[in-house]
Amino acid sequence: MPKSFHVTTFGCQMNEHDSERMKGMLESLGYAEAEAAEGADLILFNTCSIREKADSRFVAHLRQAAAHKRRNREVVIGVGGCWAQSVKDQVFRDFPFVDVAFGPGQVHKLAEFLTSDSLTAQGFFEFEGFTGHLPSKRDREFQGWVQISAGCNMKCSYCIVPSTRGRQVDRPLDELVAEVRAMVAEGVVEVTLLGQNVNAYGRAVAGGPRTSFAELLHALDAIEGLQRVRYTSPHPQDMKEDVVLAHAQLESVCPHVHLPLQAGSSRILKAMRRTYDRRRFLDRVALIREHNPDIALTTDVIVGFPGETEADFAETLEVCEEVGFDGAFTFIYSPRRDTEAAAFVEDFIPHEVAVARMDRLVEVIQRRAGEQAQRFVGRTLDVLVEGQSRTDPSKLRGRIPHGKVVNFTGLASPGETVPVEITAATSQTLAGEMSLLARALG
Ligand code: 5AD
Ligand code: SF4
Repeated sequence: MPKSFHVTTFGCQMNEHDSERMKGMLESLGYAEAEAAEGADLILFNTCSIREKADSRFVAHLRQAAAHKRRNREVVIGVGGCWAQSVKDQVFRDFPFVDVAFGPGQVHKLAEFLTSDSLTAQGFFEFEGFTGHLPSKRDREFQGWVQISAGCNMKCSYCIVPSTRGRQVDRPLDELVAEVRAMVAEGVVEVTLLGQNVNAYGRAVAGGPRTSFAELLHALDAIEGLQRVRYTSPHPQDMKEDVVLAHAQLESVCPHVHLPLQAGSSRILKAMRRTYDRRRFLDRVALIREHNPDIALTTDVIVGFPGETEADFAETLEVCEEVGFDGAFTFIYSPRRDTEAAAFVEDFIPHEVAVARMDRLVEVIQRRAGEQAQRFVGRTLDVLVEGQSRTDPSKLRGRIPHGKVVNFTGLASPGETVPVEITAATSQTLAGEMSLLARALG
């Protein structure tokens, strides 16, 4: 019987990417993936630390794994990712049943640990390299993640990432092109480029010439067989004309930009150290739309940042009204260890106030997203099929180039791109019918 492993992933797409590499690496070591953590020989967690909720959810899972280990002493428990990095000094003291802990830049060390004879707990936390060269076990064979950089040089006062993932390091352009070519040869048609601040890509290339995010988009667009290029997340500060034009000029670059606003008040943006103000954010949006009138815009918003007044919050609502995002992730501010804003204790906003603001924000976001989605109704759009609909098994599910999910009637296999006529739209999803005639014609 080969040994078995189970990986639970928390947090962002970068973690999903790293988990696929962990799985690929474990399979190449002869491990097999188990259905559940219970019964697996190796129980792994790829953790997140972005908000307090992420921490507490994970700790509950970790305690369950400890219970499995009490029943079977041979079980190995591993903890990787941002939470592990952020508590590296305490992890073995507070959780003595953990055998191996490693930060986001240390995924490959897991193999070293498992193949060594060491029986003592080990921790690995210095950034040593990208996971791109490790084998990957993709969730869907036609979609792939590509990590273009690690770390972040920004100093957003609420954010733990610069302290968990360190300074920005970029991968050389030719290495990325080669990686994507290899993925396309294996059947990948859509890639999502990942980085903490993707459009700052190119300034911190390890051992290579400087380049830029727009150049990378051009180089990837030239790869035959690659249909869709997505990326997340850019910083509004670095959203320059070259990237905006790449959306207009390059067929594979999807008409979607996730542009994190965080707050609509210039005063709060300053306290967040976001390096732009309300006016500049709106100017970026105008520039993007001038060249790409149909593009989808989504965002992240934090409510209840320390010192946020009713007037500040009203400005966030105004900007969201004015832009009319196609969707948004909304968060209540959560103080994080070792961040600048965690010290603004006397300005903390009572939780009930933050929750009430969140409700008002969600109302505006959803209403505007619902209105924006109506522009798709009546159009026939290319849909990359992902599988069966989650709500109605008689239907299929896929995404339009703008990133919105469509549930539709039709016959097609995952990985195929098919024309779908959009018949209805809500703030979250679209409904449609596959256009059989268009497909027959080809
Ligand atoms: N509290 C609340 N939300 C946060 N985010 C990052 N740090 C915090 C925090 N301390 C949000 C931001 C970011 C997204 C990934 O998570 O909106 O863009
Ligand atoms: Fe969570 Fe941020 Fe780390 Fe991603 S980079 S896992 S969102 S803390």
